[in-house]
Amino acid sequence: MSKTVAILTGGGDCPGLNAVIRAVVRAAILRRGWRIVGIEYGFNGLVEGPRWRELDLKGVRGILQRGGTILGSSNRGDPFAYPVKRNGQTVLEDVSELVLGNFRKIGADVLIVVGGDGSLKIARRFGELGIPVIGVPKTIDNDLRGTDLTFGFTTAVRTVTESLDRLHSTAESHDRVMVVEVMGRDAGWIALASGIAGSADVILIPEIPYRVDKICAAIRARSESGSRFSIVVVAEGATPAGGDKIVQKSAKENFGVERLGGVAHHLARQIETCLDMESRVVVLGHVQRGGTPAAYDRILSSRFGVKAVEMIAAGEFGKMVAIHGDQVVSVDIAAAVGGLKLVDPEGELVATAEALGIMVGR
Ligand code: F6P
Repeated sequence: MSKTVAILTGGGDCPGLNAVIRAVVRAAILRRGWRIVGIEYGFNGLVEGPRWRELDLKGVRGILQRGGTILGSSNRGDPFAYPVKRNGQTVLEDVSELVLGNFRKIGADVLIVVGGDGSLKIARRFGELGIPVIGVPKTIDNDLRGTDLTFGFTTAVRTVTESLDRLHSTAESHDRVMVVEVMGRDAGWIALASGIAGSADVILIPEIPYRVDKICAAIRARSESGSRFSIVVVAEGATPAGGDKIVQKSAKENFGVERLGGVAHHLARQIETCLDMESRVVVLGHVQRGGTPAAYDRILSSRFGVKAVEMIAAGEFGKMVAIHGDQVVSVDIAAAVGGLKLVDPEGELVATAEALGIMVGR
């Protein structure tokens, strides 16, 4: 039976989004003969407008290797708490009825939501309101439950690792401490994986509160043993023991989500105070989200996109595509959004880092 499938990309962008869109369009058209429409700028495209366009084979040509998303995305448009202007003030209103109406107006039968925790929570609620939804997990942070891996993470780790390789040579030439701030507001997967891959000396993650005195002692010991430079990788959400995250903008000023950033500067100043070593800061920021997806992410995204189409054919709604081991499977969206997948401070990856002599802040 012919179907119209709508797809949107929500939340912060990440490498591999275009590869999912392409896979959905190709599998749906070539194998099923369905119609595909792309919703623009995440759920915002179903609130305003609607803003959407037809997607055909020609429209997804040449996008597999492109970062970002051809549909646009937004991480500030929850239709259940949508910012609207009332008498010159921005207030949050439930505009979910608009979304339901626009979804019907487009003539779509199914909605594929490619997103992280925030977008999938919204998807779940629309599932409960009657839209047949399928989730596809994305985030460079890799902190979604229900799946071993999200696409985008591998590429982000590659980007950070390459940066650490570059920073090593300059740090060594100048006997400096380089403090490198990476993304990861709640989970330290990027910091931990890239820190191990890039041979960091200190890795600080949100799951393990750090002690500055211990960090300084580790850097001092390294320096005294002849390595007069150090590389510190710190996740933006890392916190000192007994302290708080460093926030640039409060949730109130930033559409309901705290804007993090600044921990590397804070830490570099503290290291300069406790050690007589020049400490410099590199904030990798959105560089980690950009660029061409690694081959692994192109394959994972393609598998996820094809699986999403198969799930529609099988009528598996309210579910999310996931990877368990080497198998692509489906899980309940509810299982994925019931909390974040965090690094286990006593787990194998942290133990590996420590066995390698990497200091993890404790
Ligand atoms: O994609 C997730 C993430 O990378 C977080 O680690 C980070 O805090 C956030 O996105 C920042 O998003 P933006 O700057 O686009 O609001």
